[in-house]
Amino acid sequence: MRVLFLGDVFGQPGRRVLSAHLPQLRAQADFVIVNMENSAGGFGLHREAADAALKAGANCLTLGNHAWHHKDIFTMMQDEGTYPIVRPLNYSDPSTPGVGWRTFNVRTAAGLEKLTVVNLLGRVFMEAVGNPFLAMDDLLERDDLGTVFVDFHAEATSEKQAMGWHLAGRVAAVIGTHTHVPTADTRILKGGTAYQTDAGFTGPHDSVIGSGRDGPIQRFLTERPHRFGVAEASRAELNGVFVQIEGGRATGIERYRYIEEG
Ligand SMILES: [Fe+2]
Ligand SMILES: [Fe+2]
Repeated sequence: MRVLFLGDVFGQPGRRVLSAHLPQLRAQADFVIVNMENSAGGFGLHREAADAALKAGANCLTLGNHAWHHKDIFTMMQDEGTYPIVRPLNYSDPSTPGVGWRTFNVRTAAGLEKLTVVNLLGRVFMEAVGNPFLAMDDLLERDDLGTVFVDFHAEATSEKQAMGWHLAGRVAAVIGTHTHVPTADTRILKGGTAYQTDAGFTGPHDSVIGSGRDGPIQRFLTERPHRFGVAEASRAELNGVFVQIEGGRATGIERYRYIEEG
């Protein structure tokens, strides 16, 4: 099984490059996971963005710390047949809407294969949520998950690396999201777990992690709040990884990066 994972789609530039570029990548993968947590103007996921991602070839949409920002998420989560959304697993409230993992039947050259996609939130330099390490241990008690692919949405490289090693040999992939900058530590951990600290994002290239440059620069210059907006006019980049999986374990991982000209 070959899985394409794309990092955080950010605002209109991210949606545009996803719609323009994913269709030509689609044939190179059996299954496509896209993190959409910033697709609605930088915050959350709305119906228009979800529909565009699915039309472009996405099979599963993951989220992150901005999961709840747009109200459309609540109605989309009630329509699981149309919207294959996975929100972070490790919320403490058992009545949290939606699901933190989802199992898909993926058609590959070998036939139908089971793939479970999990979304986790980190806790270092982020808002308080349940323990993602223990949440994974609980989930992996199950014996019906098939191949497991984890999107770990977290700020700290240390927390992400620790999760990679915690799950090494137990899942097929641990790929980080949230920092929006792709890391070069692409590797396969012992036991066949593909790992990269951050996939990088899918959004405006000439930006500060997606925002127009003036707001962040003024904030750092003046130490006062400044308005941040999506860097709408920018050319876009698209980042992710292709993961090759055999028998539930990764046999290959390649970084993928595309930058629009301009
Ligand atoms: Fe993000
Ligand atoms: Fe995030």
